[in-house]
Amino acid sequence: MKRLVFLATLALALAACDEKKAAPAPEAPAAPPAPAVEAPPAKTEIPVPSFTISTAKADIAKGEEIYAAKGCPACHKVGGGKLVGPDLKGITARRDETWLKKMILRPDVMIKEDDAAKKLFVEHLTPMPNQGVNPETELPFILAYLKSVE
Ligand code: HEC
Repeated sequence: MKRLVFLATLALALAACDEKKAAPAPEAPAAPPAPAVEAPPAKTEIPVPSFTISTAKADIAKGEEIYAAKGCPACHKVGGGKLVGPDLKGITARRDETWLKKMILRPDVMIKEDDAAKKLFVEHLTPMPNQGVNPETELPFILAYLKSVE
């Protein structure tokens, strides 16, 4: 019994010793006071070129070619219903022009930051990939084509 008490005391003494040896914990920096109302996250700037959508036949034909070359028909029909993405017939009449330009140029940003695009993503469950549409040499023609099938 004595031996047991001795061992227990020794153990306690060693533990106490360890505690003393342990370096004092560095003081945690004081947390900054939480703001009362969280600021909304900054939105990504999507520069949109301003132009009038052409109705010239040559521009529409060029737009249809670019639309195909960019792979849009893999996911969109223009008349005939939904495919992977929404039917784009009449899209220039349904959507605000600036919104439409942004959606075609940066769908990756739009489905994260824009409420209407987020809603579309929830409905379609496939994120439209960024197709790398050039804002000056491709976008105006794609829109001329889409407007021609209003
Ligand atoms: C891999 C499939 C895919 C490709 C390729 C694709 N899209 Fe999309 N698109 C979608 C989906 C899906 C949506 C709905 C939003 C979402 O889920 O990201 C969408 C949404 C859109 C919208 C908004 C439609 C609405 O009802 O408001 C437009 C406009 C659009 N796409 C145009 C294009 C154009 C132009 C191209 C070619 C440059 C293209 N898309 C290529 C899948 C695609």
